[in-house]
Amino acid sequence: MNADQVFEQYSRFVIGNYGRTQLVVARAQGSMFWDLDGRAYIDLFPGWGCSMIGHCHPKVVEAVREQVARLIHVDNTFFTVEQGRLAQMLSERSFGGKCFFCNSGAEANEAAIKLARRYTPAGRYKIITMEKSFHGRTYGAMSATAQSKTHAGHEPLVPGFVYVPFNDVDAVRAAIDSETAAILVEPIQGEGGVNIPADDYLAKLRDLCDDNNILLMLDEVQTGCGRTGKWFGYQHTDIEPDVMTLAKGVAGGAPLGVMLARPEVAAAMTPGSHATTFGANALVVSAGIATLNAIESEGLLERADRVGKTIVDRVTQWQSRFAFIEGTRQRGVMIAIQLSVPGAPIVSAALELGLRVNCTQDTVLRMLPAMNIPDEELDEGLSRLEQAMARVEAQLVSG
Ligand SMILES: Cc1ncc(COP(=O)(O)O)c(C=O)c1O
Repeated sequence: MNADQVFEQYSRFVIGNYGRTQLVVARAQGSMFWDLDGRAYIDLFPGWGCSMIGHCHPKVVEAVREQVARLIHVDNTFFTVEQGRLAQMLSERSFGGKCFFCNSGAEANEAAIKLARRYTPAGRYKIITMEKSFHGRTYGAMSATAQSKTHAGHEPLVPGFVYVPFNDVDAVRAAIDSETAAILVEPIQGEGGVNIPADDYLAKLRDLCDDNNILLMLDEVQTGCGRTGKWFGYQHTDIEPDVMTLAKGVAGGAPLGVMLARPEVAAAMTPGSHATTFGANALVVSAGIATLNAIESEGLLERADRVGKTIVDRVTQWQSRFAFIEGTRQRGVMIAIQLSVPGAPIVSAALELGLRVNCTQDTVLRMLPAMNIPDEELDEGLSRLEQAMARVEAQLVSG
């Protein structure tokens, strides 16, 4: 099959809810992928942040291969050795919470929303979330997401979400009332533009939660599992959340979502209160265990910040050349280049040059590279990005 035939098949049989780039990915390895014609691309946005240890990491491939022949799926009527092991690994690397497993970030947030309502006294149902947040596309997670473009066409939303500006503690304080159950916040906003709050923001939210007896729930779907150079984004502070959600990188590209909750809070989820049939089946869990082991044994938490800083250093050097670069934001392998012009033409020019990057919020060029991207590939990827920017600069100059 050639690419045109694939596009034709999609146009007839796949719902058009994604704005797809005209490229068919045939295979991927590490920080590279190849299209159907064998053309290679450097991937600085692997799997939209899911392939955080690169595509098809050999240890994940090996673990899945071994698991798939032994046990793919057994429902949550029973126990598996694998699920308990992964739960312990995540709990011991975070705040000693208990895990609920599911299949995506949105589902993990759904679980958190339901748990907040179950745990808090009757009558308390409101959850405060932040403008420009992103929590997923299911009804609860979408309603938690304070971006009107995500809501458009889907109203009425689930009631009970109160939106306030990000990084504004006074606004949160003013929004808390006797019906408030929880605050749900990303430690760094991802889709919102890699927005890094003040150093004491989470600590102040923690205080507000303690003072008002409400839950602090962190959406670490994008910041979690090493993305920021620590296991979890909140670990750059002294506080701990009551609830945390994970997905994306947690299983090396396999579809796994997790909600962790402090044991006292988790106790509100009793048998029958919530469920998902696939949740943490043995196959994805084997990928999760192998992913966490690889991050640890290959020293990738330490490497993440070095990769991110290498990118920022290079981009900073370009600032005198490209007037449209306003600055950078970075923590670990979560990097934004703030532009004064739309980023989409740079993303397109980069792809023509064999490089994948992403643009969010119109003017934010975003990279979520793998923590283990080889130095040479990163170097070459950045050279291609510089060339892409030069092309766009030339177009801007010629009007
Ligand atoms: C912070 C955050 N929460 C939740 C989600 C939703 O995750 P999923 O697409 O796996 O449902 C995303 C996805 O980008 C995200 O970045």
